[in-house]
Amino acid sequence: MEHCNVVFKPQGNVVSVPVGQTTREALYLAGLSYDFPCGGNGKCGKCRVQVSGGTSEPTAQEHHLLSEAELAEGVRLACHTRILKDTEVLLMEGVKKSNILTKSVTRALELVPVVSKRYVELPLPHLEDQRSDWQRLQDGLAEAFTDCQELTIQLSVLKGLSATLRGADFKVTALIQGQEVCGVEKHDTTSRLLGMAFDIGTTTIVGYLMDLHTGRELCHVSALNPQTKFGGDVISRTAYSNQKNGLEELHLTVIETLNRLIETAASRVEATPDDIYALSFAGNTCMHHLFLGLSPRHIALVPYVPVVSNALVLAPAAIDLVINPAGRAFVLPNVAGYVGGDTVAVVLATEMDRSDTMKLAIDIGTNGEMVLGTRDRLVSCSTAAGPAFEGAQISSGMRGADGAIDHIRFGETMELSVIGDVKPKGICGSGLIDLVAGLLELGIITKPGRILSADRVDNPKAAPFLDRLVTFENSPAFLLVDEQATAHGRPILLTQGDIRSLQAAKGAIAAGVRILCEKQGIALEEITEVILAGAFGNYMDPHNACVIGLIPKELDGRITMVGNAAGAGAKMALLSRDEFRRASDISKVVEYIELGAHKDFNTVFAYNTRF
Ligand code: FES
Repeated sequence: MEHCNVVFKPQGNVVSVPVGQTTREALYLAGLSYDFPCGGNGKCGKCRVQVSGGTSEPTAQEHHLLSEAELAEGVRLACHTRILKDTEVLLMEGVKKSNILTKSVTRALELVPVVSKRYVELPLPHLEDQRSDWQRLQDGLAEAFTDCQELTIQLSVLKGLSATLRGADFKVTALIQGQEVCGVEKHDTTSRLLGMAFDIGTTTIVGYLMDLHTGRELCHVSALNPQTKFGGDVISRTAYSNQKNGLEELHLTVIETLNRLIETAASRVEATPDDIYALSFAGNTCMHHLFLGLSPRHIALVPYVPVVSNALVLAPAAIDLVINPAGRAFVLPNVAGYVGGDTVAVVLATEMDRSDTMKLAIDIGTNGEMVLGTRDRLVSCSTAAGPAFEGAQISSGMRGADGAIDHIRFGETMELSVIGDVKPKGICGSGLIDLVAGLLELGIITKPGRILSADRVDNPKAAPFLDRLVTFENSPAFLLVDEQATAHGRPILLTQGDIRSLQAAKGAIAAGVRILCEKQGIALEEITEVILAGAFGNYMDPHNACVIGLIPKELDGRITMVGNAAGAGAKMALLSRDEFRRASDISKVVEYIELGAHKDFNTVFAYNTRF
């Protein structure tokens, strides 16, 4: 097969690809992480690159999404452009470096890690004591430790036992999980016991390296979920997993990243992956399935059934994870097809399952999951609201990465803050909320969501901004940054279409909250605290979220931001067997409500799309 070379700029990566391969596939082969928010379907126009020739002719979608001037300059969509000859490709959007949230709630807990080490010095065998090696170890552990009665052992550990005992003068350390001896090491290694907790998000993966001896966090590492190149959300990734080899690709790509993160974290504390004996994982149900190599196919089809919801304890080799082979991977349980282990981890970290007062937890990631209740009853639901807040479906939208406008204040002038102090490239979710809230308060946007023309705005405070009202594709739009001031030379706009997308997203979340209240038989005012989890929740202005009605106005002033509570829950499940067990209890008691099947959802949703 004929090949050609692609040079990616400004990184300088060179890759040889078969003629006819898409630029997207070439990026993947070059190991570069680029954003494909619509999964490469040619709908979002966000995967722009600039090519120097040697490519296929622009497709109909490219003509639709790119201007003639852009096409003339070689601007193309990476998902649609095929490589025909040696070429150079400039990555216009930049390889992704996002702001990833790692800070989270903490609370006191008793340190009884999911795996433990026990050191014993055993009596040597002789003619009057011919107990088997395993019996000798079993007896020694039972005598020395009250929690080591009636232990079991795997054949694989037995195979090396005789040599280990004799190689260490019968002074050994047993690695124990539950009632099972998973490994035996020579001499006293009890001080070497690390674990790593992972929050596998649709967009980002965060790993926390923990000392299981002290309960201390040693460091954290993070990466974009490499599966984003196959699609920005769970629906497009599920569709990809249904293609030939798709599931395996999705699985392997995330495992590769996890192994890389494990190695990086270990090296930061001068340890090796072999020093890590336990891993815990929290993720939404689709990420959970893809990480385990299970097909999420039926999660996407009515009646949305996952393969497994229970907590799992696995040998790391079963999922190709490289840590100490005697270690174990602890996978948090799911509630339902669209409420996963990450939500269970949020409930665990914030102790909603023990609360006397009515609390509402909202985790707005790529999906929006919510849980409402007290210790007596917890109800949950999920909405596909997130993509708008992560930049998809918004014309100038982008994730919270360098170049994203993340906050906007209106006074006599308009003040913008841009992540990374660089020229702006687009607007992320928190900026979008500030912008729309500000324009609502100025009377430039109406409650039904229309952008007014300048002559119909009667609030005098709006006067300094009226010249920003422009027309874009025959509809009104608000000019946030003109083309001279942006990094890419295109204006950053808020269009009428963007407002409709935002209304749909915020309407779905607000409708979910109201339906959960109805299930609990309570009024909104009875909610004492709104717990906002996740990166987006952490960065957005809670008051402005109430102004636009993303969170019902009645709850303004009761909002607490808890950061990456899913990651905090995963850490707790690693540090305490009881907390891991409690996660299972939570997954069984949280009721799941399928919003799409609720008789009033459409009405409540339509009502809540108004500002
Ligand atoms: S247009 Fe290429 S990823 Fe959306």
